[in-house]
Amino acid sequence: MTHTTSTQAWQRLTQFAATDGTAIINELLTDPSRLQRFSVSVGGIYADLSKQRITDAVLSALINLAEETDVRSAAAAMADGAVVNTSEGRPAAHMAIRRDPPALNEAFDTEVGSSFERMAAISDAMRLGSWQGVTGQAITDVINIGIGGSDLGPKMVCTALREFADGPRCHFIANVDGAEINGLLRELEPATTAVIISSKTFTTQETLRNAETAMAWLKQGLELDNPAATPHVIAVTASPDNAMKYGVPAHQIVLFPTSIGGRYSLWSAIGLAIAIQIGFDHFRALLAGAATMDQHFLTAPLAQNMPVLMALAGIWNHNFLGMDSQAVIPYCERLRLFVDHLQQMDMESNGKSATATGETVNTDTGPIIWGQTGTNGQHAFFQLLHQGTRATPVDFIGCIEDPLSHPEHHRLLLANMVAQSEALMLGRASDDAHRHYPGNRPTTTLLLDRLDPATLGALVALYEHKVFVQAAIWQINPFDQWGVELGKELATEILTGDAEHDPSTTALLEKTGLNS
Ligand code: F6P
Repeated sequence: MTHTTSTQAWQRLTQFAATDGTAIINELLTDPSRLQRFSVSVGGIYADLSKQRITDAVLSALINLAEETDVRSAAAAMADGAVVNTSEGRPAAHMAIRRDPPALNEAFDTEVGSSFERMAAISDAMRLGSWQGVTGQAITDVINIGIGGSDLGPKMVCTALREFADGPRCHFIANVDGAEINGLLRELEPATTAVIISSKTFTTQETLRNAETAMAWLKQGLELDNPAATPHVIAVTASPDNAMKYGVPAHQIVLFPTSIGGRYSLWSAIGLAIAIQIGFDHFRALLAGAATMDQHFLTAPLAQNMPVLMALAGIWNHNFLGMDSQAVIPYCERLRLFVDHLQQMDMESNGKSATATGETVNTDTGPIIWGQTGTNGQHAFFQLLHQGTRATPVDFIGCIEDPLSHPEHHRLLLANMVAQSEALMLGRASDDAHRHYPGNRPTTTLLLDRLDPATLGALVALYEHKVFVQAAIWQINPFDQWGVELGKELATEILTGDAEHDPSTTALLEKTGLNS
């Protein structure tokens, strides 16, 4: 196989790193047409990449890199249902299911249409009060028990779209730390609570442990023999046999296809909690917003393609300018979990050292994704962004309008966001080293018209495609996650006491009482 690093574009970019890589962003912006070339609007999002340290020559080499690595055909193959997840022999259906109607062909599972009908029926019934527990009372609280993609996506969306929340309250339990579920159960009434066990595989240790605790609570509170067989429990899974073995009857299982990856699953039945909290129509609007971004991704020219440009800026910063992490700072408290969701989506997808065909990669792949909301981050880690020895690229995300805020709060919030991107670019020279700001630090700013279901859908899809384009350029498979398996296996060995360990591990087992 030919490595990406052997392409002509990669070699040109390597040369550019020493020359154009030191360009002064503020000077590049003296070109009056730069902003127009480096900004794109789609799906209620305006992306300004003009504060990236990218000259026109670098941009054209980056576009050549996307062409030479066949990013367009890779995207079309994913959309058409080709087996893009090669190590697991599956397509990646998250784009297909968010079209209306879902674009299904024999490559994708045909359950999607009927599982959306089930989601609509369940969420409507819960919202109208006609989905009743064993005492005949309506459901007021829903607990989604899941972890990773079966938690982060729906939890992030429910938090971000709080403005639209008019259904039963949704709570999320992921960590197997019992203090969390115990604390939540103390606040709730079994008679008016429904538990959604969300697990693609229905084998995940933490989820099954938390589900057991919830079942015991329902059993005791409602004097039931088998709570899983009552309307208090719904299973969302791609492994119905495992859910049925667990005791959930078929009519309480909502399916999604195995071709939906965990971190791409909020668009599927894993989004049931979203539909319950904001209504199925708003859930559909979320999907429609994502579909708008999909359409743009598949058809817009590479040089005006928002996810492609964001991916290329990342490749330039990480692979050529040596910046090994990416900060994401939403200036909107309701987007605080967006960074957690992105961490899984990006780092579980692109944290790989093998190419899709099994060779060892010969360049760096996925960056570390981190961040938190502004302005909070300004009072925590922005010191390092401005004066640390490493430059870290930042994505700023703001909402132009926020009906939940107060005009004066909102002006202050947005003024801070814009000021930070300007300050990181301009810096300020001083003879006093303590007061010297180097500046020239690259940023992208995303402005959302407002935080509504469609715009949020477009934003999440934007980052999904950014991750996909980078994977295509690095020639890795973004849809598997073998790296998480070893730790799971060793935890099982520790719990069963089956293995010999090194002195450090043995001492830890002794001190924690895990060896008894
Ligand atoms: O441990 C990683 C992972 O497999 C994620 O990819 C997935 O989202 C999460 O665990 C939960 O898996 P499941 O939905 O099968 O319980």
